[in-house]
Amino acid sequence: LADDGYRLWLKYDQLPDAGQRKVALRNTRFIAVPTNASATLQAAARELQTGLQGLLGQAVPVGGEARGKGGIVLAVAPDPALGREGYRVAVQDGNIRISAATDVGVLYGSFALLRHVQTGQPLAGVSLSSQPKIQYRLLNHWDNPNGTVERGYAGSSIWKWQELPEVLDPRYQDYARANASIGINGAVLNNVNASPRLLTAEYLRKVAALANVMRPYGIRVYLSVFWAAPKVLGGLPTADPLDPQVQRWWTAKINEIYQAVPDFGGFVVKANSEGEPGPQDYGRTHADGANMLAEALGQHDGIVMWRAFVYKAGPNGDRFKQAYEEFQPLDGQFDPKVLVQVKNGPIDFQSREPFHPLFGKMPRTPLVLEVQLTQEYLGFATHLVYLGPLIKECLEADTYAKGPGSTVAKVVDGSLEQHRISGIAGVANIGSDRNWTGHPVGQANWYAFGRLAWDYTLTAKAIAQEWTQMTLTRDPAAVPTIVQLLDQSRSIYVRYTTPLGLHHIMGQTLHYGPEPWLAKSARPDWTAVYYHRADAEGLGFDRTAQGSNALSLYYPPVQQQWGTMATCPLNYLLWFHHVPWDYKLSTGRTLWNELTTRYYTGADSVQWMQKQWAQVQPAVDPALHADVTARLRVQQREALWWRDACVLYFQTVARRPLPPGLPPPT
Ligand code: GCU
Repeated sequence: LADDGYRLWLKYDQLPDAGQRKVALRNTRFIAVPTNASATLQAAARELQTGLQGLLGQAVPVGGEARGKGGIVLAVAPDPALGREGYRVAVQDGNIRISAATDVGVLYGSFALLRHVQTGQPLAGVSLSSQPKIQYRLLNHWDNPNGTVERGYAGSSIWKWQELPEVLDPRYQDYARANASIGINGAVLNNVNASPRLLTAEYLRKVAALANVMRPYGIRVYLSVFWAAPKVLGGLPTADPLDPQVQRWWTAKINEIYQAVPDFGGFVVKANSEGEPGPQDYGRTHADGANMLAEALGQHDGIVMWRAFVYKAGPNGDRFKQAYEEFQPLDGQFDPKVLVQVKNGPIDFQSREPFHPLFGKMPRTPLVLEVQLTQEYLGFATHLVYLGPLIKECLEADTYAKGPGSTVAKVVDGSLEQHRISGIAGVANIGSDRNWTGHPVGQANWYAFGRLAWDYTLTAKAIAQEWTQMTLTRDPAAVPTIVQLLDQSRSIYVRYTTPLGLHHIMGQTLHYGPEPWLAKSARPDWTAVYYHRADAEGLGFDRTAQGSNALSLYYPPVQQQWGTMATCPLNYLLWFHHVPWDYKLSTGRTLWNELTTRYYTGADSVQWMQKQWAQVQPAVDPALHADVTARLRVQQREALWWRDACVLYFQTVARRPLPPGLPPPT
């Protein structure tokens, strides 16, 4: 049977090594769950049963009590060392004991044990223990009630609103299983450009039906909020957060939500951003708006994630600075239930951005890190780009907020400032396509996000290896070849699209393909020339004190490193400097020669990717292999498109020949 990708990494195909299966079978003779087990524990037992039966080729009975030795025992027992969601898997009294302080911890431990077996590790003497570093680990779906998905490239929305609440697509449960297996514990169901419809009684019933499916898997549902809902739904003349009628409307609405969904997680808000209404329409601040919602949540256990993705149009401003300028002064003014949600970089999910300057600069506010798994600017579902390295790069960036080692990860997990709550959000790449993510390797990005949200100390490579073994193949020769391909893919994409810190030069309407020549648009900061600033002298956006001075938003050690052309890492160079075409870089090449060389070597590397993938053909499912092969062909063609478009365009400005050895564009 051809693999259609539906099972994701929860494949549970039989382990190839008979010896290994035999040993595993001796340790998994039964699964014991406490009597009166909750839906969560039952889900854990069911998953272990299905998984082990598939992996080991033999049925494993589930029962109420341990039947002697050589089985798996699920146990809920207080263990302060594990926190609310942590787990321990250890051999005790001849059984493998999966224990946690809560049912959901046991579920996470069960998935960890399955992963252990799936990736071919020995069961004898197994000992695993882990707990999440970040508390709220959420997917943000940009799904609309009409079934479309903003920036979605994998079909339509998986939520079939019209059929809900009566019809429960089995996919909802598989979605929940997949998320629980990597520790994701929340789903924001709808687009940040929110339809007010989601807050109507009609839709809340549908939301509740989804919440019921997800609850046993430890996943809470959240909603994005349309700020002017009190007007459009409530008929009020205003949505001013300081207006008592508005406050009463939200309090009542929130009570209604919690009636339907008792464990509702809370709200994401995009306000006064890209034309969305917000508190500023009434002369109020983001803090006024967020705090009003937090207040209306009252005793309910919910949070408000207020997005900082704001920027005002202006020919002389620098979009890089605008979120900082609006939000940084509000630090300390937010209610304890509010987190401010900040994209990884200051512009908008480009293939490489410096970390957002708000990280480390709002010490009194918990900040949610928002990354984008859907590849809006990274080749949609046709380019193979593994995002593990991108997410890691941001998490590991040092803000120097409290001296060296003050990484973005430590800001986000709350440890730097001892925050009570912490969160991370991934904009989902999931749709109704049979394989969920369009590009089969898109699944790796969903997977990597969950794993890093749980434990950001894992390496991108180790996660790629797990995913490959669980999803594609366990062939010992093929695995490292695929892992290397995944691990390099993002830097290759950067090379043939936006090398050396170029950014936002993509096609403006779709955010696809190159359009570096774009000079006119609805707003000055939606053009390419605004960002690359190519002129007879050179290339790049001067963000030093001579230019927009966006660099001043960072702590001094960062300013110092990025502040001169000589010390700025080449990957960020054109983010911060207008560099003369003939300026000699650390590579020994001039800017022009380095730029063109990168475009060429980047495009060439896609051929390397094709070769790597061709090599593993015998080890991978034929249909899946053919699918990725075909997508790589698109990628190869489009890498040349990017290369040629950018090289030829920049050449009209630089007026220099290609360095010797590079063939003319095709
Ligand atoms: C990007 C994206 C929009 C999205 C916005 C956001 O600009 O293109 O579609 O709404 O980000 O994050 O709010």
